[in-house]
Amino acid sequence: MMKYLITGANRGLGLEFTRQLIARGDQVIAACRNPDKADELTQLADSSEHLEAVHALDITDPDSVAALAKSLENDNVDVLINNAGRLSRGGSPNDFDFDEIQGDFAINAIGTLRVIEAAMPALRRGKGKKIVNISSKMGSIGDNSGGGSYAYRMSKAALNIATRSLAIDLRPEGFIAFVVHPGWVQTDMGGPNGLITPETSISNLIERIDKADMNDSGQFIEWNGNRIPW
Ligand SMILES: NC(=O)c1ccc[n+]([C@@H]2O[C@H](COP(=O)([O-])OP(=O)(O)OC[C@H]3O[C@@H](n4cnc5c(N)ncnc54)[C@H](OP(=O)(O)O)[C@@H]3O)[C@@H](O)[C@H]2O)c1
Repeated sequence: MMKYLITGANRGLGLEFTRQLIARGDQVIAACRNPDKADELTQLADSSEHLEAVHALDITDPDSVAALAKSLENDNVDVLINNAGRLSRGGSPNDFDFDEIQGDFAINAIGTLRVIEAAMPALRRGKGKKIVNISSKMGSIGDNSGGGSYAYRMSKAALNIATRSLAIDLRPEGFIAFVVHPGWVQTDMGGPNGLITPETSISNLIERIDKADMNDSGQFIEWNGNRIPW
């Protein structure tokens, strides 16, 4: 049994991670912006002892992240799943939307690092030593044949390179850190035309996370196991 910390656990892929992990008997500490409005998550917490806690967490807010760090003071985390994210387009070369670009950066890139910093002591006490950052193929430079989506693409590319550094910096302590692309998934973000369901994406990602070893650290891995070019 492992203990997972999952951000953005109230809907979409974060909620599905939570569902599947507690169903198989793992422990989950769930974090989301508004626990009061997270009805499905609250129902899971009421019905399963495997959902240890639901924390309020806005990953862009230093005070909110500090409160998470405090709540983990006497806890341990085996696997951190940085799932919270936002997709904005960010305008076009004649009319960039810098608020959107900054906003996606604050969440997808910087916010994720804030959570990692806050969770490091609990992760060091844990036995899993895995940091999984949910990125996107849209953050791949090598795969970008469509252009556009400046805000989202820039923020996920930044997350990718940060993850590579994490993998290098934390390797001596035995940590495995990598980025995954969950596929184009039917969630609020992916929309109804997504190619796969959250159930398929997450069951595959859980398998990838379970099997991940040092060879996977610093890699960019697709839900089906394929490697993605940086
Ligand atoms: N769906 C896809 O096709 C797809 C493809 C590639 C990558 N991804 C990535 O997969 C991850 C999950 O995506 P999804 O499809 O489940 O998206 P989603 O349905 O839009 O859910 C996004 C989640 O992130 C949370 N979030 C956003 N900003 C936050 C903040 N500042 N602090 C804390 N939580 C915040 C949201 O919370 P609220 O409910 O409070 O807004 C929500 O729980 C994201 O990182 C996304 O970029 C998704």
